[in-house]
Amino acid sequence: MALKKILLGLAVTTALVAPPAMAAQLTVGFSQIGSESGWRAAETTVSKSEASKRTVNLKIADAQQKQENQIKAIRSFVAQGVDAIFLAPVVSTGWENVLKEAKEAKIPVILLDRDIDPSGKDLYLTAVTSDSVHEGEVAGDWLATTVGDKQCNVVELQGTVGASVATNRKKGFDTAIAKHANIKLVRSQTGDFTRAKGKEVMEAFLKAEGKKINVLYAHNDDMAIGAIQAIEEAGLKPGSDILIVSIDAVKGAFEAMIAGKLNVSVECSPLLGPQLMEAVKEVAAGHPIPRRIITEESVFPKETAAQEFPNRKY
Ligand code: AHR
Repeated sequence: MALKKILLGLAVTTALVAPPAMAAQLTVGFSQIGSESGWRAAETTVSKSEASKRTVNLKIADAQQKQENQIKAIRSFVAQGVDAIFLAPVVSTGWENVLKEAKEAKIPVILLDRDIDPSGKDLYLTAVTSDSVHEGEVAGDWLATTVGDKQCNVVELQGTVGASVATNRKKGFDTAIAKHANIKLVRSQTGDFTRAKGKEVMEAFLKAEGKKINVLYAHNDDMAIGAIQAIEEAGLKPGSDILIVSIDAVKGAFEAMIAGKLNVSVECSPLLGPQLMEAVKEVAAGHPIPRRIITEESVFPKETAAQEFPNRKY
């Protein structure tokens, strides 16, 4: 458990300490949210393969979208005395008690892909995430440029209620469209980041607004793909009758873009495994690591989809 003490030392002081002898094998507990999207399945797969390349024993606990299961998993990792904990927090609040327990046990916590509220900021070592406010802004800016001064009614499928990425993607998009009086958000509801819920909520939007809907903004591709089915079943053409803007850039979104059914996907990479393992390795080597490690992202309009598709890794 030598690494554990060093990690915690850095979390508290961010000072450089004497390089430790590398533990032969590190054990890391990973509290994963679940498998609500293709994106998340890719994140889990890549983390597993990057861990095995580096002889990290990664113990994954699937929380099936429930915070209470994540809290139980963290307590179990603490009881097992793991060297570090990776946490993808399903929602941003309610972590203080359990993260204090990890801190008291001198087990460093690394957040991935989502944030927790600032009140918990001293309870984790670093966060490996994308800039989710920016993702929402990119989606909103793309829409504003594409529709020009045409009047348009937008419906929004939000991610999981209380998830930092859902709050941030909404905030970024709202900020971008606020400058354009012709773009009106007419309905906004959670689709919980899943295809099934995306379809169900889109059906309800269509029932309420019918042909008045010009644009769908979905906080992830899976919900957009579910919604595409609902739009087709309503006898409308996704991608032309209703423009679709979504986030993640998973392979399924590229297939939908190539078929002309989705207009743009803003990238959010789930391939965090290398950065997570690098972070653990750096700290083990006695190097300070940044408080936040931001992943790089692109944006893929449908015109680029066919060319880009063969390069996609998730
Ligand atoms: O936190 C990242 C988000 O969670 C991804 O955009 C989404 O697909 C996932 O389920």
